[in-house]
This record gives sequence, structure tokens and C-alpha cells, in this order.
Amino acid sequence: MAPILPTTQLPSVDVFAIEDDAAQLTWRRLPGGQLTALVEDQEQDLGAVHGPGAADLRGLRPGTTQTIDVLVDGRVTAQTSVRTLPAASTSATKIATISDLHFGETGFGLVKRIRDHGADPYPLRCAQSAARDAVAWGAELLVIKGDITCHSRPEEWEMFDEFLADVPIPIMAIPGNHDVLGHLGSLDATVELQRRSLFPAPVTTRDIDGFRIVAVDSTVPGHSWGRVGRWRDEIRDAVDTDRPSMVFTHHHFEARALPWFWPLGVRYLDGTALVDSLLEANPDLFFSAGHTHRNRMRRHGSAVITEVSSTKDYPGVWAGYVLSGTGIRQVVRRVSDPDSLRWTDRTHAAVGGIWGRWSPGQLHQRSFAHEWSRPYGEVLLEAQAWASPNV
Ligand SMILES: [Fe+2]
Ligand SMILES: [Fe+2]
Repeated sequence: MAPILPTTQLPSVDVFAIEDDAAQLTWRRLPGGQLTALVEDQEQDLGAVHGPGAADLRGLRPGTTQTIDVLVDGRVTAQTSVRTLPAASTSATKIATISDLHFGETGFGLVKRIRDHGADPYPLRCAQSAARDAVAWGAELLVIKGDITCHSRPEEWEMFDEFLADVPIPIMAIPGNHDVLGHLGSLDATVELQRRSLFPAPVTTRDIDGFRIVAVDSTVPGHSWGRVGRWRDEIRDAVDTDRPSMVFTHHHFEARALPWFWPLGVRYLDGTALVDSLLEANPDLFFSAGHTHRNRMRRHGSAVITEVSSTKDYPGVWAGYVLSGTGIRQVVRRVSDPDSLRWTDRTHAAVGGIWGRWSPGQLHQRSFAHEWSRPYGEVLLEAQAWASPNV
């Protein structure tokens, strides 16, 4: 093995995602060659390197810090470490979410548009890669949280059909602001989703292994901001159960009374009043939103409130949730298809490079474990036959 000289600047490899026994490494630049990783002297083959990429480390020990040497053609090229999350102590159920697919978009960036010249449109490529990754990861349900299209045009919904044809697991979907802008020639997103049996009502529930999944339409037709208070009673009824519940919306709940970044979401008073009301009915709530195209996590009382970024611009992700009787684990992973990753990596440069620093969020906000406030044990698994009222 070649020595590492003190002056050597090692190319950066990021630990983008961690789980209990796995981690996702990503990199922007590594020399071409065959990639391997040494995890505490155990070698793992990670495939060939060509430009930006991602690879999974597997078989890690839960709840421990492990050092990793990354080798290209046998030469140590980068070093890092991972602190894995604790393993779930009971049997677990996996679901996944994606959002902000933006079918129909042809370029990304506020001032200077970054264009793609791939054979397939990049929004489709990225969404397909995200869904493939989520299914391979073991997701049993995919929740699509809006901004499916750019302008709700017929050809954009046809692209959505092309996407749906490749997804072998059940899907729940809600519209985003881009789907309800009401431009000339746009289709009614509600009708389009209902035609595909994906969105029966503004508040749709589904139970999976005893966990309650609630998808809420937060859109206001013709506007980019969102609203949820009008559905407060319906959402409260949906989470009024003795099981942990997840609430999915397109719009994020603003964390401050005065919004300080674009885009506007659900205004602070509206979102906070809803969360407080829901917590009175159920202390074990987990919220997941899209819209901001960034990854963040915060807590409000015993609730966890998250934002997960888009499939199709940097960092280009999907999120997986591992639900068990003791808690929930979130992992946000970058789409791994090399063509998609090359595209999302290019969009790092948007807004003068600010986008690449703003959108990813921090590792502990993307990958984390959260314990429920109440002990549920294995009782959740006994509830597999729960009715699914709306789907
Ligand atoms: Fe969006
Ligand atoms: Fe949006």
C-alpha cells in the first residue's frame, strides 16, 4: 500500500447517509479506477469510479464509530469515519418518500440555467433512480409528496405514468404547488391523481403494520405557499390512534413567525397550531415535507418535523423510514444511478454555488433515530390486518 505523505491533500469522500449497519459514501472527484473500502481491516469492493458517485458500505456494526480507508486501485485515496445508528430493538417496517420530481423541467438554476443533454429527461431519470433505490432498500410503500410536475401539463402527467409503470410497491401521492398553479393548458392535479387512485381525499390515511400514514394536501390553488388549518379536524381524527403516526405534506411548516428564506411554506401560526392540536391526540408524530428542496430536521414537543429535498437537484435524494415498536429511523440517501448523480452533482453549482452548500443540510438532520414517547413493543406487528380506510 502506498504511504500517505504528510503534505498529501486527500480527495474528499463524504459520508452522506448512515443507518444501523450501512452507510452511503458519495464523492465529487476521485481518480478513475477500482474502488474498495477498508472498514476496520475488512475490505469491501465498491465498484469502478468514473467521476461523481455513490457507494454503500454494508455489514457495519450498529451504534459504533468505525474508520474507513477508501482505496482506488489499491492506493489509499481518502479516509473518513462513520458513527452508525443503533439497531431497532424490534421488528421493523420500511417505507420511503420522494418529492419535487418536477416532470417537465428542462433546466435548473435561478439566474443561469444548468441544462442537461441526456437521452432521458433528468427529472424522470432521477425519480426512477430514487424509486429503484428505495425498493431495493426494502421499502413497502412510497409516498410522493408533490411537485410531481412543473405545470401540470398533459405530457408531464404522461411522464408520471412512465414513472409509475416501474414502481412495484403501493404508492400514496399528494399534489404540490407546481401541480396546482393553474396555468393555461394545465390539467387539474387532483383529478389526475384521483384518476390514478393515488389521492382519494385531501387527508388520506393508510395503515401499514400498525403504523398510521397520513398524506395531507397542503396546496392553495394558484399560490406557491401552503395551508393546513382547514383540514385540522380531519388530520386530528386520522392521528387519533394509539399507534405512532406519520404526516406527509408538500409544504414545510415554517419554524419562525417571520419567514427568512424562499420558498414560503405553511405559515408559522397555521403549522404550529396544527402540530400542537395533533400532539394532544397523539404524542408520537413524525412529519415529512418537501417543497424547500433541502434537508432539515427539528423537534416540536415530542414531534419530529423534517424536510426532504428533491430527487432531481443537488443533492438529489429519497428518504427511507424504518418504523419499529421503539422508534423511527430516517435515512436520506442520494439517488445512486451514475447518470442521475452526475446531473445532480452539476446542480451543486446553482445560485453561484450557494445551492450546493444550502440544500444538503447536515448529516445528523438527514440520518437519525428517534424513540417514541410510549413503549409499543411488538404490538404493532399484530396489527398488520388493520383496515386501510381510504386507499
Ligand atoms: Fe418543488
Ligand atoms: Fe413546491
